[in-house]
Amino acid sequence: MSDNRTAMLDKIADLAAEQAKAVDAGGKYIARHKERGKLTARERIELLVDEGSAFLELMPLAGWGSDFAVGASIVTGIGVVEGVECMIVANDPTVKGGALNPWSVKKSFRAAEIAERNGLPTVNLTESGGADLPTQKEIFIPGGRGFRDLTRSSARKVPTVSVVFGNSTAGGAYVPGMSDYVIMVKEQAKVFLAGPPLVKMATGEETDDESLGGAEMHSRVSGSSDFLAADEYDAIRLARRVVARLNWRKAGDTPLPTYADPDLDPEDLLDLIPQDLKEPFDPREAILRIVDGVSTLRQAQDGAGSTTGGGNEVAFDEFKPLYGSALCVGWARLHGHPIGILANARGVLMSEEAQKAAQFIQLANQKDTPLLFLHNTTGYMVGKDYEQGGIIKHGAQMINAVSNSQVPHLTVIMGASYGAGNYGMNGRAYDPRFLFTWPSAKSSVMGPAQLAGVLEIVARESAEKKGQVFDADGFKAIKEMVETQIEEQSLPYVLSGMVYDDGVIDPRDTRTVLGICLSVIHNQRVEGAMNFGVFRL
Ligand code: COA
Repeated sequence: MSDNRTAMLDKIADLAAEQAKAVDAGGKYIARHKERGKLTARERIELLVDEGSAFLELMPLAGWGSDFAVGASIVTGIGVVEGVECMIVANDPTVKGGALNPWSVKKSFRAAEIAERNGLPTVNLTESGGADLPTQKEIFIPGGRGFRDLTRSSARKVPTVSVVFGNSTAGGAYVPGMSDYVIMVKEQAKVFLAGPPLVKMATGEETDDESLGGAEMHSRVSGSSDFLAADEYDAIRLARRVVARLNWRKAGDTPLPTYADPDLDPEDLLDLIPQDLKEPFDPREAILRIVDGVSTLRQAQDGAGSTTGGGNEVAFDEFKPLYGSALCVGWARLHGHPIGILANARGVLMSEEAQKAAQFIQLANQKDTPLLFLHNTTGYMVGKDYEQGGIIKHGAQMINAVSNSQVPHLTVIMGASYGAGNYGMNGRAYDPRFLFTWPSAKSSVMGPAQLAGVLEIVARESAEKKGQVFDADGFKAIKEMVETQIEEQSLPYVLSGMVYDDGVIDPRDTRTVLGICLSVIHNQRVEGAMNFGVFRL
């Protein structure tokens, strides 16, 4: 087994352990919840989605490294319900009663953004204690956006469904309140602006949960519920019927009816990434293990009696291979969908690479083709010759193209993603539709050693200006500390915990994950831009 493989397998085992923390976040409250005869958030999702279909869980590590449980007390992801790709948002009532903390809010906003930009119906599986009261100041004001997003989705003709399994109090009452279709579980749902104690305090009225906000009352009296479910299973059955009747049609292109597995074995992706990211690797080795292959396609199609254009195809048609060779760009298909790919072939981006990227992104927009960015970059080249050669304006051309491109972008951070290279390669700030990282990824303003070195130079110059003697030995410890800190902060769990990505994935799952994303993207028509900012030439 190669050293790279051993190191990657260790990281994948680590990832599984961290993800398990999200599943077990409720601890002892999971058993109590089950004793109450209730299903967990993940069981509800599993019953909701079509049998045998995949659920693409998003942001499972949200809140990692914070004071809150990993997963941030909600489960979010894309699942297929009665053949319709839906954004599913399920409160985890076993974690602080499903109360929403600042990371839950950030995660649910990102889920709503994914639903909006890809035009996905949303199904909320609601059971929550509302705002996490100790951190209310961080969530109360921004949190209102969740209800706004639901009604704006409805206004865009993208339906929203809410299934209420339990508590949905105060602001939480507006989740069913703002949804197009509402199902409430008998003797479980509690939907009111204020519970009995608060009502007593506010008006002196004596009342009880059921008459104030029970499922029967809302289904028979207030009309805030459309369906009264006999139990949780019945509620999920009803939700599936609602989605089945949405008459949902995807507006985007359909993929090729047949497509082939990659020409090279995805298993080998584990050998690809050097443990020291300073060592380059050839991204074509990754691309050919992610995109549709041709050899098997030809066999499949020949078997079906059709021809494929004289056997001239290749899985990846590289564009401008002789120019700006530190960036590899080209066209391929993934799960039968056409895609343009930009991948760093050597860490650094120079003027030629930046201009090649800007041209390629415009070509993808001209032909309405989604783009995939594969990161392994240390950023744009620095130095006198490069500055005089216009590296800033060439990098700006690339960033202009990335920023104003209208075709959907997918980003996978395979290795390094440092400095403005993160921006030019469509990092999180550039709104990719989906962004995933490999366990080998590292991302920060610059590499840890470089950052610590810059700090040392600045400290030395500052001491000299003040006429002081620079304590080089004393600074060594600070430098080491900074290097360790930056190294830790650049790791994928930290960034995933802060919801800077949509998940850390096993490299071998990349093709499946991106295939689901491309299918999701095609819920809407893909239309490229032909208007970009002024290119500084
Ligand atoms: N903020 C912070 N923590 C909360 C919380 C909230 N809104 N709601 C519940 N919790 C905590 C509890 O303090 C308890 O913490 P602990 O394990 O450290 O003791 C844990 O979550 C479990 O709560 P518990 O009441 O035992 O769970 P339950 O399943 O029996 O009841 C609720 C869940 C949500 C019905 C109940 O906790 C409740 O009514 N919470 C307050 C709801 C509310 O008024 N929210 C304000 C909305 S703006």
